[in-house]
Amino acid sequence: MYKILALSLGSITLIAGKLKIMGGINYFKTHEEIILDDKTILITGGTDGIGWETAKKLSKAKNVIIAGRNVERIRSQLINYKNIKYMYLDLNDLDKVQVFCQEFKNTYEKLDILINNAGIYNLELKFTQQGFEQNFGVNYLSPFLLTYNLLDCIPNEQESRIIFVASRAHANSPSQVDFNIYLNRQPIPYPWYKIYAISKLANIYQTSSFANHLKSTKIKVYTLHPGLVSTNMLNQFYFSSLLAPFIWYFTKTPDQGSVTSKFLATQPNQNLKNGYYYTDCFPKYRKEDNNILFENTTKLLQKLGYIK
Ligand SMILES: NC(=O)c1ccc[n+]([C@@H]2O[C@H](COP(=O)([O-])OP(=O)(O)OC[C@H]3O[C@@H](n4cnc5c(N)ncnc54)[C@H](OP(=O)(O)O)[C@@H]3O)[C@@H](O)[C@H]2O)c1
Repeated sequence: MYKILALSLGSITLIAGKLKIMGGINYFKTHEEIILDDKTILITGGTDGIGWETAKKLSKAKNVIIAGRNVERIRSQLINYKNIKYMYLDLNDLDKVQVFCQEFKNTYEKLDILINNAGIYNLELKFTQQGFEQNFGVNYLSPFLLTYNLLDCIPNEQESRIIFVASRAHANSPSQVDFNIYLNRQPIPYPWYKIYAISKLANIYQTSSFANHLKSTKIKVYTLHPGLVSTNMLNQFYFSSLLAPFIWYFTKTPDQGSVTSKFLATQPNQNLKNGYYYTDCFPKYRKEDNNILFENTTKLLQKLGYIK
């Protein structure tokens, strides 16, 4: 009798735990949505993983542009989504970000929803084309330039928004991060396992800073943690196949991992909290503005000639 009770309790706990990891109630819930048929949406890193799943979920929009370096992984599926289009973007090179922004402006008359989703997690120290630490460059600096350059395409309208896909890993950053080391391209004093976290902390700061920068407009800015998601980013860790059941249990599928991105893209802005960090569709907190990082990034990009 006790054994049956213990077994039942154990099974219920395991199932409840898995449901929570999948995203809890919000994975199953249908949310109120804004009308998408007149919206143009740009998703960086829409060529794989969470970004591609987000693109599919938003494919009712007038235009969904997925941007990345390699469309081949999903090219055969594009035929099923006539509104999803691909544009080449390499966030490893600020020059190419500039070219992308100009091409985007030449092709589309406006941008209603920008989802900065592309990201990398390096296991060793690498550098971008302009010599910035690569996690910082691809995850923070290039999305900053892209967002800043595309601001004039985002209409000052009720449902306009910008989303930065961050990570709960930001909490693993050192308590004091000197971002000037990154901006000044000095040797990085932090261990490799901290540098992804630092780039994601920068995503969270840039969310509240852009929200602040745009406070006199109707454009809102959000950030999120998608969950621990079984994508190429996670799979690069080469877990032993013996761990497969644990990995399955503790991770989301890319479909589940795209739920909060889709939620933030489609909820009416009035239901959301500007500048906030969301997990599983719940607002957690708004990080205090890091105006110095925002100002220093702007100054650097001006000095390098990327922005006026
Ligand atoms: N997976 C997780 O557990 C997890 C957890 C927390 C946060 N996140 C965040 O979620 C976001 C999406 O990650 P994911 O798990 O979906 O990873 P993923 O499957 O590896 O996809 C990454 C995407 O980023 C693009 N990308 C990478 N480098 C790029 C570059 N230099 N220029 C342009 N695009 C580039 C890739 O496209 P191309 O290869 O075509 O360039 C790809 O579409 C990232 O910001 C990541 O930090 C993921």
